[in-house]
Amino acid sequence: MKIVMATNNQNKLREAREIFSPLGIEILSQKEAGISVNPEENGTTFSENALIKARAVYELIHLPVIADDSGLCVEALNGAPGVYSARYAPEGLLCETLLKNMQDVPAEQRNAKFVTVVAFINQKGEEITLEGSCAGVIGFEKRGSHGFGYDPVFMYGEKSFAELEPEEKNAVSHRGTAFRKLYDYLKSYCTQEEI
Ligand code: IMP
Repeated sequence: MKIVMATNNQNKLREAREIFSPLGIEILSQKEAGISVNPEENGTTFSENALIKARAVYELIHLPVIADDSGLCVEALNGAPGVYSARYAPEGLLCETLLKNMQDVPAEQRNAKFVTVVAFINQKGEEITLEGSCAGVIGFEKRGSHGFGYDPVFMYGEKSFAELEPEEKNAVSHRGTAFRKLYDYLKSYCTQEEI
């Protein structure tokens, strides 16, 4: 059984393959599926953007598709950067920009959460979206060297996400949770009818 993932991001592909391989599902990148598409992510919610990516692939290939959209929502910034997380600052300056914009925010007001919405479209074109989130606080400095994006400033308990090993992060992360929800959905789905 093959599902196309609407990405060429190797980290996301590896994570999805680890989670879905026990179901006998083969995850193909866009490239492996022989398609190249990069739709404008102009939705205002994670769900809208995940569906935009999934639909763009499905329209070309009519195979089952997975797409995800994620971001960081900071309470003191009224939910920003949210769906604009990737575009909040130039590549490599995301953490610095966030720390600067929060320099006057006291410790007890630094709550934040990572959110992922996974969209799945089956062979017939039926759509579902599933959400995962992970609550933490924004630290006062960068810590750790693993991960990417905002990981060094996102404190999960005593450690930043960038101080966790990849498996430790996956076990609690927004993306891990959303993917595991999709695993449960596909597991029951697989036993009932063909994807
Ligand atoms: P995407 O939609 O998964 O590509 O995520 C959009 C942006 O959100 C990324 O470019 C990152 O800046 C940020 N982001 C999403 N997930 C994570 C994460 O697990 N750690 C750190 N940053 C993340």
